[in-house]
Amino acid sequence: MLEKRRYGAGLPTSPLLAAIFTAVVCLFLWYLSSCPEHLAVQLVAPSYLLLLPGNVTSLPPPYPMHKLAPDDRATLIDVKDFAFQLNNYPCNGSNSLLLLVLVHSAPGNVDKRRTIRETWGRGAHRVLFLLGAVQSPADQAALEEENRTHRDLVQGRFLDSYRNMTYKHVMALKWTAYYCPGARYLLKTDDDVFVNTPALLDFLAQDLSPWGARRLILCEPFSSAYVKRSYRSKWRVSPLEYPGRMYPAYCAGWAVLYSPDVVFLLYREAQRTEYFWIDDVHVTGTLVARANLTQTPLGSLVLSSHQVQALVGSRSNGSDVGVFLFGSPNLSLSDIHRLWQLVQERRAVS
Ligand SMILES: *[C@@H]1O[C@H](CO)[C@@H](O)[C@H](O)[C@H]1NC(C)=O
Ligand SMILES: *[C@@H]1O[C@H](CO)[C@@H](O)[C@H](O)[C@H]1NC(C)=O
Ligand SMILES: *[C@@H]1O[C@H](CO)[C@@H](O)[C@H](O)[C@H]1NC(C)=O
Ligand SMILES: *[C@@H]1O[C@H](CO)[C@@H](O)[C@H](O)[C@H]1NC(C)=O
Ligand SMILES: *[C@@H]1O[C@H](CO)[C@@H](O)[C@H](O)[C@H]1NC(C)=O
Ligand SMILES: *[C@@H]1O[C@H](CO)[C@@H](O)[C@H](O)[C@H]1NC(C)=O
Ligand SMILES: *[C@@H]1O[C@H](CO)[C@@H](O)[C@H](O)[C@H]1NC(C)=O
Repeated sequence: MLEKRRYGAGLPTSPLLAAIFTAVVCLFLWYLSSCPEHLAVQLVAPSYLLLLPGNVTSLPPPYPMHKLAPDDRATLIDVKDFAFQLNNYPCNGSNSLLLLVLVHSAPGNVDKRRTIRETWGRGAHRVLFLLGAVQSPADQAALEEENRTHRDLVQGRFLDSYRNMTYKHVMALKWTAYYCPGARYLLKTDDDVFVNTPALLDFLAQDLSPWGARRLILCEPFSSAYVKRSYRSKWRVSPLEYPGRMYPAYCAGWAVLYSPDVVFLLYREAQRTEYFWIDDVHVTGTLVARANLTQTPLGSLVLSSHQVQALVGSRSNGSDVGVFLFGSPNLSLSDIHRLWQLVQERRAVS
């Protein structure tokens, strides 16, 4: 029980406690003349449900695959001859994996994949790297060699490029539905992120539920983001690609935790929705809205880049930072090694 306190107010476990806590905060702020809207919103019950042994079997199964189109297996959105060019089956023969981690990686990022395997990729969870196709046979041969050594690559038949990222994200959902339906939680992340996997496994088992959840999308949500129209923007989108002025609420794509039912609902929705290339917006925004789901904020469980730099740059042992689940994206390989070292040291003494 005491364990839960370590996560502070990041994600109150009991809806009632959360409501009381928020009400008190709001009353206090109201007393100071205004109660901000985002606090008021938290008064509603969480949008996800946690499972207990009693209702695991009584609920409908999370993957009703018969609801998919007959040619679903060979389809990825608008690609009609889809296949996995490299595949692995780490989930076969076990039906009780707590955490599956699928990492978006570019074919050339060999060093980033090695760093993850040496650090937070180790442990009771499963980590696979998601790739698209490459054009050079020599590059493909290198990936096949890497796959034979590490058995952790999943490569889909679409060209690995910037504007094809949505194929990769939907491939993550597809792969989970077909090859790892027993996983209780899916984490979609990127290869320049630090995931505090020991703390994340504790968090899932103790603060959420070891039996899993329903309707869960845990991430850093953005609301009211404008569509970028400037030609100077890397994220420029034409009105033809996306007519609206604003995106729906969506998640920062570098750490998104899904429950299995959500994986299925978003996958099914993706297969019948027109392609849009910004994968965070499309999968965790547009498709989430179409499936009537809601994102839950990770809040204080994310280490900001400022905190990461303070940690890796000093001799600090991290005691001043508290528990965190994710280090922000765009970390260097040495940042990731250093954070892993700190996490290991901290666990060794506690
Ligand atoms: C499972 O049962 C618990 C306790 O009755 C309840 O709080 C929870 O919402 C249920 N979960 C689902 C998905 O129905
Ligand atoms: C794992 O299971 C999938 C289907 O769920 C099957 O296609 C595949 O051949 C299996 N692989 C191994 C190595 O057992
Ligand atoms: C990838 O590696 C796995 C495990 O060694 C192997 O079963 C599979 O055939 C490999 N795939 C390819 C296309 O080489
Ligand atoms: C992926 O991207 C490339 C160029 O960026 C494009 O030519 C290709 O058609 C895209 N789609 C697929 C499914 O590979
Ligand atoms: C979402 O809610 C709307 C309005 O209640 C409903 O029309 C629609 O069918 C729902 N969509 C899904 C996928 O459940
Ligand atoms: C970390 O350092 C602080 C002082 O900087 C010290 O009080 C604390 O005991 C250390 N904790 C660990 C786990 O080494
Ligand atoms: C990521 O980090 C590199 C160097 O560490 C820097 O050059 C680059 O601008 C950063 N990119 C983003 C998007 O922050």
